[in-house]
Amino acid sequence: MVELTESFESIFKTKLARLLMTNRFGKSIYVFDELDSTQDYANALPITESVHGTIVIARKQNMGKGRIGRSWISPEGGLWMSIVIGPDFSADNIIFTQFIGALAVADAIQQTTKIRSRLKWPNDVLINEKKVCGILVDVNLESKDKKIVMGLGLNANIESSLINDYLTADTTRATTIKEEYGNDIDLVNLTKSIVDRIEYYYYDFLSSGKALEIIALWKKNSDMFGRRAIVYDGIEKIMGEVIDIAHDGSLLMKLADESIRKITYFRNVTFR
Ligand code: BTN
Repeated sequence: MVELTESFESIFKTKLARLLMTNRFGKSIYVFDELDSTQDYANALPITESVHGTIVIARKQNMGKGRIGRSWISPEGGLWMSIVIGPDFSADNIIFTQFIGALAVADAIQQTTKIRSRLKWPNDVLINEKKVCGILVDVNLESKDKKIVMGLGLNANIESSLINDYLTADTTRATTIKEEYGNDIDLVNLTKSIVDRIEYYYYDFLSSGKALEIIALWKKNSDMFGRRAIVYDGIEKIMGEVIDIAHDGSLLMKLADESIRKITYFRNVTFR
């Protein structure tokens, strides 16, 4: 006799669809047992199959992608999700998508575990100074199918050693919700909270002309300001004090000679 057990994909998708309170985000959900990368999958979906708010989730990724060409370790137990935004998306707002993603993740972690996480520019969510989540924003505005894809990699129910063993010296150490909270958490509930909060920040701020208020909210959730930091892109090393976020989303640093330097999204920041 064949035993019928429901798959991870169908359980996750059914439960998430039932829980979500959103109007637009998560109306179309793709869940996979395994993918090379949810980001690649969402980027490749034609816009007819990936309307605004479409979510792609994989239980594990074999070739997860991080920022600046890095790979992203994505074993079973984490939340690996990409969200399609667009196509009616103003190019001016691209930089703010990473901020609303980080704010949404911080809110969801607080709601589900009561843990207060902090944000690190440009795209990280930290708990106790260690990275628990990274956000990757891909922009497809030149192609026929115009869209933004926001990828969230959240180390949820996994051991941090699985990640830290692979990191290079210049990378922020990783942590996981399991280690900080002391328990596994329900991935579907966590996903529901994140998607609810993304919809909130998207409609109440980003698409209603209040993008600059997102910067203010982001700053309230960050401990970076006033700290000494190093920015290194493999060529130039910039040392100074983190002082603000500019209106275009770049980081402002005060250097030793008192000059102010703008750091763009493509750089990496470490604290001294
Ligand atoms: C970073 O470098 O901090 C960003 C990491 C983003 C990882 C996520 S996991 C889901 C989505 N799919 C990917 O291949 N990457 C993003």
